Amino acid sequence: MARPGKGSATFSGLDGLEAAARRRLSGAVWGYVAGGAGEERTLAENEAAFSRWVLRPRVGAGVREVDLSTTLLGTTVRAPFFVAPTAYHGEIHPGGERATAASTGALGLLGVYSTLSSDSLETIALASGRHPRWFQLYFQRRWKDSLALVRRAEAAGYGAVVVTLDAPVLGSRDRQARSGFAIRSSPPVGNGPGAASPPRGPEWHGGPYAPRGGDVSWQAVRRIVAATQLPVVAKGILTAEDARRAVESGVRAVYVSNHGGRQLDRAPASLDALPEVVRAVGSSAEVYLDGGVRRGSDALVALGLGARAVGLGRPVLWALAAGGQDGVGRFLRLFGSELANALLLLGRGSPHEVDGTNIAPVGSARGRPPHGPGRPSPPRSVRAR
Ligand code: FNR
Ligand code: LAC
Repeated sequence: MARPGKGSATFSGLDGLEAAARRRLSGAVWGYVAGGAGEERTLAENEAAFSRWVLRPRVGAGVREVDLSTTLLGTTVRAPFFVAPTAYHGEIHPGGERATAASTGALGLLGVYSTLSSDSLETIALASGRHPRWFQLYFQRRWKDSLALVRRAEAAGYGAVVVTLDAPVLGSRDRQARSGFAIRSSPPVGNGPGAASPPRGPEWHGGPYAPRGGDVSWQAVRRIVAATQLPVVAKGILTAEDARRAVESGVRAVYVSNHGGRQLDRAPASLDALPEVVRAVGSSAEVYLDGGVRRGSDALVALGLGARAVGLGRPVLWALAAGGQDGVGRFLRLFGSELANALLLLGRGSPHEVDGTNIAPVGSARGRPPHGPGRPSPPRSVRAR
């Protein structure tokens, strides 16, 4: 739990954010948030991968203003970045997901909220106001419990179901174990037993943690697709093969992620996996990425490689720890203004104008093909100048 009584928003820029969070969290919670799986090779690679790319600015473009807005599965959002689903905000700040959702919604950004939220999904929906939120589903051990969560998300106005596929069991969390953080299998998880209108039963928490978890399979994904009108997103995809499987299973977006390096250590960095996924998916689904995105310029690299939007995991938790609702709002604004600044300096007026010609591998002056591998051409009106 956060240490009480230390004021709010003690960070002055993106730079100081992680340190500010670390000062405020107990060693155990810090170990949970910061840690990855095993030797944390994948965790380290997620950030390192961004350093392998440079941005190729186009000067003299005459761009004076940028418009960061875009659409995600048809919903307009203010910027091409979103809050990735992370569990237990209540362990990080007493404001819980309510605080995260209130800031994210107020800025017109998309928030994706975990099955393992401290607040119930209905409470989060209220805090989001009329702004978009998506529900991240962990398959429950019993199909009817998974379905009940989807129905609750539909009723509470969530715009999509994000099915996380990379956690049939938890990864080997060495740092978390050393820190002494234990994932609880009892309340205060907001959607589980003890919450306002939860599905009951001791097996509810089966999902990712029980020795025999829910059925995490493409068949189960197809069942969800068939069971709801909401678009379904497949999270945790790192290969072209699975990207194709996802599209064949009827998902509308493929979300490239290695769970922030917390599941299979030695899995590829998300950014390294992005090009093959984009190529495999072509124009049949949207592609998102998370893992290691820390600065606005990182987002531009991912867009240049064909992602439509990027998710922010730990940085949002750092901001929540550092300053609760204000902290999250402040961080998201900072991230957005840094992204807008970098976009303008790149000579582009909109995220839709960023393409492969805007990035190059470090040490190479040459850009990539105009629209990245397999990325559909943007509409003519926003074609790169
Ligand atoms: C996560 N992540 C995650 N993903 C998910 O689908 N459901 C979840 O409940 C959680 N919980 C969670 C808790 C914590 C503390 C972290 C750090 C991460 C993974 C998350 O959605 C995302 O994939 C990564 O956090 C992205 O990497 P970065 O931005 O943290 O580097
Ligand atoms: C985690 C689970 C909860 O990464 O997704 O800790």
